[in-house]
Amino acid sequence: MALPDFLIKNSSDIDLRWYGRRTGKPLRKTRKKLYEELLPTIRLDPEPQNIPTDLKTLFPNPVREVWLEIGFGGGEHLAVQAEKNPDVGIIGCEPFVNGVASLMKHLDGNGVANVRIYDDDVRHLLKLMAPGSLARIFILFPDPWPKSRHHRRRIVKDETILQFVHLLKNGGELRFASDHQGYVSWALRHLLQNDDISWIARRPEDWRIPPPDWVETRYEQKAKARGDTPAYLRFERKSRFD
Ligand SMILES: C[S@@+](CC[C@H](N)C(=O)[O-])C[C@H]1O[C@@H](n2cnc3c(N)ncnc32)[C@H](O)[C@@H]1O
Repeated sequence: MALPDFLIKNSSDIDLRWYGRRTGKPLRKTRKKLYEELLPTIRLDPEPQNIPTDLKTLFPNPVREVWLEIGFGGGEHLAVQAEKNPDVGIIGCEPFVNGVASLMKHLDGNGVANVRIYDDDVRHLLKLMAPGSLARIFILFPDPWPKSRHHRRRIVKDETILQFVHLLKNGGELRFASDHQGYVSWALRHLLQNDDISWIARRPEDWRIPPPDWVETRYEQKAKARGDTPAYLRFERKSRFD
């Protein structure tokens, strides 16, 4: 079942670009080959009829649940999570060609059975997945769009939070991390306003400590090298029957 009309953004908003470049430096030979040969074997076909209601059926081997990583960048986090969790299907979404090629390099030789890639804007995909079909959504170090006039390009905002909540199954988790304090405050404020999710913070310092199964991302490493302190927010989807 696709997203109800009230959750579908209007076309003028979908025209608004949320991501930076689509392409960077020309791909080196190995990456180009992997991009051309490996990606087509795991690329998600975004035609609505090809997105199954049960996302688990996208994967050749049985998986117990499906996670979505939005904006995986170079794919370092996704590749390690996929390797550590072979019984989970992971859909990675990233429109930046060089990032997708980098993920292919990380996956090459490590198995790709539990990974599927949507190499475009996640907003299209969010509308096609069935309610309650995701157990986890990762939004890690998203573009902060620091200027006020660009805030509506942020990936976390009221409209997308409704979509995330709609797509998460009961008890499912939304993970957000950022080193941009303005975006962290913004995300926390907007997420706390939604009554269908609750902040998983048991101690005051929780938002400074990554969860135990955390895998560092490239942007996180860069932020720490600059001396910035990332924040980690985890929200749980409340039961729909509460
Ligand atoms: C700052 S980078 C962070 C990359 C990675 N998560 C990390 O922490 O290293 C943000 C990424 O989000 C991607 N992105 C931005 N808007 C997106 C969208 N609408 N759909 C999917 N990915 C998006 C960008 O292309 C970029 O690679």
